[in-house]
Amino acid sequence: EVLEGRDVRSIVKYMKSKECRKVFVMLGAGVSTAAGIPDFRTPGTGLYSNLERLNLPYPEAVFAINYFAENPLPFYTLARELYPGRFRPTLTHTFVKLLADHALLDTCFTQNIDTLERRAGVPAHRIVEAHGSFADQHCIECKRAFDGAQMKAAIERAEIVRCGECGGLVKPDIVFFGEALPPLFERTVPKLREADLLFVIGTSLTVHPFAALTGLVPAGCPRVLINMERAGDIGGRPDDVVLLGRCDDIVREIAQELGWADELEREWAK
Ligand code: OAD
Repeated sequence: EVLEGRDVRSIVKYMKSKECRKVFVMLGAGVSTAAGIPDFRTPGTGLYSNLERLNLPYPEAVFAINYFAENPLPFYTLARELYPGRFRPTLTHTFVKLLADHALLDTCFTQNIDTLERRAGVPAHRIVEAHGSFADQHCIECKRAFDGAQMKAAIERAEIVRCGECGGLVKPDIVFFGEALPPLFERTVPKLREADLLFVIGTSLTVHPFAALTGLVPAGCPRVLINMERAGDIGGRPDDVVLLGRCDDIVREIAQELGWADELEREWAK
């Protein structure tokens, strides 16, 4: 076993050793709830329990490509609420930035489309937005790119956008159920074989292929789950650590042990 114990002290001792060079991070909606963005599956507060008003056949339909092609209005209604710009990164996003500042971060894989990793200052080349983002948009029929400013204006009015060329529906490049993940995701996944440490934060690990990334790190790579609840297969390997609670509280503890406490608060306040 690589870790002495299954606690923060042991993780940090390992992080400070020369064996730990490549740290990978997997993020989900739970890292952004403290920023005021709901997650998907937490009963009561999660997005999927609050979609009655959209009259969907089932909650995930709002992000299903076939359903969107028939009825895009629910998605456009939601897009307006989720549109990036109004939210500030959390302490956990800043912790990921510090991993990069300390030359430990190899790659941050995120399922989130809120772009808060970039806004926290995680270098762009270290981020893989596995489920895409609102940065670009294309016609779902002829695939032509659509103007960003026009898209933003339409989303603000919860208005359906159609392609000027073929009349097809325009959709932000966020990955819907039934769509392939971005090429960058496929290209970057093999790097996980060289991981020395994996943090899995704020995700229920229910959506594939993303959830399967946890199985790709080598046997000697400790996997640390930081989440409100248990998730996926983390806990099944000897070097797995499960830290249950609010991620901001737990990363604060880790930062404290690393001697990064002041730096973390300072960077976050920026
Ligand atoms: P989920 O809503 O499925 O899971 C969020 C997890 O974060 C849950 O396990 C929560 O308990 C936990 N959580 C919430 N707040 C937390 C906090 N402050 N600290 C620690 N943990 C917290 O969200 P994801 O796993 O991200 O995909 O969902 C995966 C994908 O499903 C999303 O990317 C989206 C969705 O459908 C697409 O739309 C394609």
